[in-house]
Amino acid sequence: MRRYKIAAIPADGIGPEVIGAGLEVLQALAARAGDIQFDVSHFGWGSDYYRKHGVMMPGDGLEQLKPHDAIFFGAVGAPDVPDHITLWGLRLPICQGFDQYANVRPTRILPGILTPLRGKGPGDLDWVIVRENSEGEYAGHGGRAHRGMPEEVATEVAIFTRVGVTRIMRHAFALARSRPRRLLTVVTKSNAQRYGMVMWDEIAAEVAQEFPEVTWDKMLVDAMTVRMTLQPESLDTIVATNLHADILSDLAGALAGSLGVAPTANIDPERRFPSMFEPIHGSAFDITGKGIANPVATFWTACQMLEHLGEADASNRLMKAIEEVCAAGVMTPDVGGTATTRQVTDAVIETLRTSNT
Ligand code: IPM
Ligand code: MG
Repeated sequence: MRRYKIAAIPADGIGPEVIGAGLEVLQALAARAGDIQFDVSHFGWGSDYYRKHGVMMPGDGLEQLKPHDAIFFGAVGAPDVPDHITLWGLRLPICQGFDQYANVRPTRILPGILTPLRGKGPGDLDWVIVRENSEGEYAGHGGRAHRGMPEEVATEVAIFTRVGVTRIMRHAFALARSRPRRLLTVVTKSNAQRYGMVMWDEIAAEVAQEFPEVTWDKMLVDAMTVRMTLQPESLDTIVATNLHADILSDLAGALAGSLGVAPTANIDPERRFPSMFEPIHGSAFDITGKGIANPVATFWTACQMLEHLGEADASNRLMKAIEEVCAAGVMTPDVGGTATTRQVTDAVIETLRTSNT
């Protein structure tokens, strides 16, 4: 029996609904496999916790999470708590505290889901965006002076380090090499930003020497939006800074038909700490409690988690089940269906039970 300790942090909005669904699917998968066991611990951190305790998680939160093999995270954000508090109080301290420097965001057009790209469908868009997740524009460096005065000043400093850029570049090249097309696009804005971004370009060229099997090219981030939209099939693996990849991954999600299906993995490739897996979509208070949240992004990130844990077969089995259920039209309203979270979850579980793969 292979046992995995999973820390579940459902947090805010639809987080508990989709994480609940994701855990059910994982347990069904374990039952089907027979030799995998998930021991799940629940952590009730998030905005409710903040309202009671004034913090999003306890001071020793990271210590509590450390013994786990992976973190299964829902979403943070609440209408009555400022976004920078929810974000800097829970998700970012985990990403940064556990040095989850590689944020990996696969995007594909799933069968049955309509893309806004005219004439395109599954097969035309199969990308993985690798987002630098520890520094850059999210380094948290900056400040404000002379608040409220006419001379008020604010700085928001992007930090790029040789260590930080080299390690994300290696991760991206290695990922590109593991995919059939062995194709990597390095995104920067090195025409306008002549220090950090030029260093990115230089380090990309250096790291490329270590990966002769990978074909790579460079794009400026503005032109990249055009290429993603007009020539989606020309791209495969993509690496970009924290902010650029944040923006490009929303575009990717929209082009693939919905952010409701987009997953993300915050990975510590050196495995010193647990990595964290979450849907991209956020807390979605407008549909919280209605039972219609799309669980597909959470299922897909569960696939990423399984892969990271070394359970590639289980990961593939779950991904296949998700695709079958989407192809059969069992989908939530955000992707044009009429099914509830419950129905999509049941359909995936049923497919897992009956599939012979
Ligand atoms: C994402 C999200 C977050 C980010 C928000 C919630 C701060 O947009 O995961 O892409 O920018 O990192
Ligand atoms: Mg984003």
